[in-house]
Amino acid sequence: MSDLSVRRMADGFATRRDETLADPRHSTRTAAILGISLGVCFSVCFLTGLYSHFAQHPPGWFTLPASPTGLYRVTQGLHVATGIAAVPLLLAKLWSVYPRFFQWPVVQSLPHLLERLSLVPLVAGALFMLFSGVANIDLWYPLPLFFPTGHYWVAWLTMGAMATHIGAKLATTRQALRPSAAPTSAPVPASASASRLPPDPGAPDDAIVRRRFLTMVGGASALLTVVTIGQTVEPLRGLALLAPRRPDTGDSGFPVNNTAAEAHVLEKIMDPAYRLRVDGAVPAPFELTLADLQARTQHEAELPIACVEGWSASRVWRGVRLRDLLDAAGAPTGVHVTVHSFEDGLYAKSEINPGQVEHPDTLLALAVNGAALSPDHGYPVRLIAPNRPGVMQTKWLSRIEVHA
Ligand code: HEM
Repeated sequence: MSDLSVRRMADGFATRRDETLADPRHSTRTAAILGISLGVCFSVCFLTGLYSHFAQHPPGWFTLPASPTGLYRVTQGLHVATGIAAVPLLLAKLWSVYPRFFQWPVVQSLPHLLERLSLVPLVAGALFMLFSGVANIDLWYPLPLFFPTGHYWVAWLTMGAMATHIGAKLATTRQALRPSAAPTSAPVPASASASRLPPDPGAPDDAIVRRRFLTMVGGASALLTVVTIGQTVEPLRGLALLAPRRPDTGDSGFPVNNTAAEAHVLEKIMDPAYRLRVDGAVPAPFELTLADLQARTQHEAELPIACVEGWSASRVWRGVRLRDLLDAAGAPTGVHVTVHSFEDGLYAKSEINPGQVEHPDTLLALAVNGAALSPDHGYPVRLIAPNRPGVMQTKWLSRIEVHA
């Protein structure tokens, strides 16, 4: 054992902690750089997550636009990609700052106490958000709570705690990122400077150690992104080695989240007496058989199916325009529509706002990529409309209800 090691072992706990703080990987500058990267990822994730939430539960002031048709595909792809990229950043940040948890005195003043208390929701919330999100894209729900509600409310808590943290650390961050601050590490506690070992002439300097560490963390983040982003970015599909879903595999060449058997609709959709009813606030309600639907003018539209779990795939859909059926029933323009499924539960129906109702690509699809819909993709007829989350592209339609 070298002299250096023997002397290190002899150092007391406090000195070792202080030396750890003097390590550039645990410096304020490293914490600030990782913090800013996390701040960017969490902010993009939060804003795109809010957009997804409002798309599914629109408050009075929000209207889901019909175009750009692929907007939800981009926002939800970004949501999942930034969440995945944040995993190595969060682990590295927590490792980088852990020696600060053992600093003495634990609390120095009331503002310091409040700042430290805000770290509880920040750290717990950030870990919860990334764990629950990654579990969700794997369709794994180990926590005893309803995922969308838990993920949504903890996001607000985490972002509130992050805003407090940024407020508390802004001046320190600015100072640590000044070019003149670069060569030094964290403010080295007196005990560490006093007892620091003589510098090893062969050791790389602080800036190099920090750069290597940050490059490794950034590299891990970039690598995770590259091996998963192909679930929504078509040219990178071949690299999507860790993506839970490949959007080009599955029944009819794309994934199915909920099969007809799982939704208990097989008997109803296969019934030869199947009818699609168009009713509600219309002067001339009517019913159509599948043959009636097939005999009407068919339209084609290339639209993405963009899942909340982050995968998406563009397909050519063929079917009857929703607007054509509404014209036949005498519905004026500007109406809201509810489409009802044979499925029970959360996805038994979805709302279509007037902008999406009037869009020429809003179809009651009977076929995809040249073949009739399979039972798992919504046979006999499903909704496909521009810029909607996949869960709102309702399958196994039984009724089109028009609202005044
Ligand atoms: C999910 C996001 C984040 C988490 C979980 C997180 C977590 C933490 C924790 C636990 C500490 C140690 C606190 C202490 O004992 O003083 C810390 C320190 C620090 N954070 Fe963050 N942070 C996040 C985002 C940010 C952001 C966005 C910034 C940039 C404004 C930032 C800048 C800093 C700085 C500069 C320090 C070191 C302060 C010092 O040396 O006194 N952090 N962070």
